[in-house]
Amino acid sequence: MYGPVLRGARVVLRPPVPDDVPHLVRWLADFETTRMLGYLQQASSEPQEEDWLKKVAADERSVFWMIEIDGKPIGTSVIRSIDWKNQHGESGTLIGERDYWGKGIGIEQAELRTAYAFRELNLQKLKSAAFADNIASVRMQRHVGYREVGIQRREIFAGGQWHDAALSEILREDWEARQHDGSQPKA
Ligand SMILES: CC(C)(COP(=O)(O)OP(=O)(O)OC[C@H]1O[C@@H](n2cnc3c(N)ncnc32)[C@H](O)[C@@H]1OP(=O)(O)O)[C@@H](O)C(=O)NCCC(=O)NCCS
Repeated sequence: MYGPVLRGARVVLRPPVPDDVPHLVRWLADFETTRMLGYLQQASSEPQEEDWLKKVAADERSVFWMIEIDGKPIGTSVIRSIDWKNQHGESGTLIGERDYWGKGIGIEQAELRTAYAFRELNLQKLKSAAFADNIASVRMQRHVGYREVGIQRREIFAGGQWHDAALSEILREDWEARQHDGSQPKA
């Protein structure tokens, strides 16, 4: 399914529209952007992305948004593999416009997504897996309150070598506590 419009100070999370398709195709063709995603990089065509957006809309185990800044789509955000019985899901982020990396947008969209997961979807936990050496991703998660719960050794092959994957989670109760005391995650 697509998520509803969520507005932060700068970031808007919103459902996709047909005009987003060329942007998705362009981002997925940019190896510099996709190489840290961990799975097989696949560039795609506009018809493929149109089909994929239809599948996501019908997928009851996913909530998908476009990330927008100043009216411009710059990336995607998702909660996928939602297990409604056990109340958890996996979060994922792709900022496709590289000019927008490192400006706090990843953190802001993750805060919006996390609040929605716990306050509206009534999930108990969000999980994430990232290249252990994807510093921006690991620090983004820590900033929002995810805690590292394990390392999968040699999980991902990229750039001619093996990389570990860092697994992290945020529990609803920890997130709720942070809303009250404003605490920062432990290093
Ligand atoms: C990973 C990604 C979502 C992070 O979003 P972002 O907007 O670039 O990151 P932010 O500006 O919100 O910064 C998040 C944290 O990472 C740090 N950071 C950002 N870029 C960094 C860099 N190049 N080197 C070191 N630290 C960096 C920030 O300082 C911040 O940490 P802090 O809160 O401890 O100061 C984004 O860069 C992206 O989409 N990259 C390509 C796809 C990808 O790797 N997705 C994640 C797959 S798991």
